[in-house]
Amino acid sequence: MLDDTKSNKVLVEVKDLKMHFPIHAGIFKKRVGEVKAVDGISFDIYEGETLGLVGESGCGKSTAGRAILRLYDITEGSVKIDGVEIGDTPQPNLRKMRPTMQMVFQDPQASLNPRMSVAAIIGEPLNEHSDMSKAEKREKVLSLMDQVGLNRDFANRYPHEFSGGQRQRIGIARALALNPKFIVCDEPIAALDVSIQAQVVNLLEDLQEEFGLTYLFISHDLSMVRHIADRVAVMYLGRVVELASRETLFSDPKHPYTQALLSAVPEPDPWLEEKVDRILLEGDVPSPSNPPKGCNFCTRCPQVMEICKTEEPPTVEIAPGHIAACHLYS
Ligand SMILES: Nc1ncnc2c1ncn2[C@@H]1O[C@H](COP(=O)(O)OP(=O)(O)O)[C@@H](O)[C@H]1O
Ligand SMILES: [Mg+2]
Repeated sequence: MLDDTKSNKVLVEVKDLKMHFPIHAGIFKKRVGEVKAVDGISFDIYEGETLGLVGESGCGKSTAGRAILRLYDITEGSVKIDGVEIGDTPQPNLRKMRPTMQMVFQDPQASLNPRMSVAAIIGEPLNEHSDMSKAEKREKVLSLMDQVGLNRDFANRYPHEFSGGQRQRIGIARALALNPKFIVCDEPIAALDVSIQAQVVNLLEDLQEEFGLTYLFISHDLSMVRHIADRVAVMYLGRVVELASRETLFSDPKHPYTQALLSAVPEPDPWLEEKVDRILLEGDVPSPSNPPKGCNFCTRCPQVMEICKTEEPPTVEIAPGHIAACHLYS
């Protein structure tokens, strides 16, 4: 359940979102198929909450995050931010909406321009979206550096002079520059040393509280999501297969895929470790350019039934706020 510091206002509304990438081949670059990276996902994100998005690598999490921010022209569906439909807004008109929604990337090394100073990187969004004077910008950049725990004296240094954790703080400061409401955090700590992961997560949590931020937190690390998310959506091969509050998802997972993912989380207590029933998933995630007929998970599901191989399972609400797409429950 959402606690009372979170509102009941929906800030982000995603409906039947599809992002298919065309596959071209041959000398005439004919369109021969498509990668169905995101294939019809729907969920709401409440103002001030963190929605975790989990699933194995390749299941479409990053594409979903980017499509929601309209870093792509989406194939189908609707995305509303604060009541404004941006799913079909042409790119030039999106500029006005950009400040409200930002992204923190997985690899701070790759997402920071090595030839720009830290101050220039953090201040870049201000050049385009504000009419601050040079002095005002400088002051804003320095206060952003304070907010993310970077020493102001390093404002003129370059990204390579910083550690991985500090570089991620630079990326976070840049994302905050325009006072966004909604931030997609795409595996923001996956590339960092384990020893500093917690610091960056704590920073993100502190900033959320201070500025009332709403997060879509993408991760393949379930213990991290369990720590940070209010609700969790589980993705498999372009679809959301289950969504529930954190407590419900971890204590009472319904979808066989969620059950398998959770059973693979390492148990730190060696006494309990023996008791964990591991569900081993066989085979790899099928290619999103040629997904199975029926349920996407039917080729690997330990509880597969005949109907699963022919009919796509409907998404049903098993209990209030707990949805799953599986024939076991429909
Ligand atoms: N620009 C693109 N063009 C073609 N295929 C893509 C593109 N981006 C991602 N994909 C494919 O879409 C699928 C989902 O990728 P991604 O969203 O990165 O998954 P995840 O973040 O869950 O690991 C993968 O099969 C990937 O190869
Ligand atoms: Mg990814």
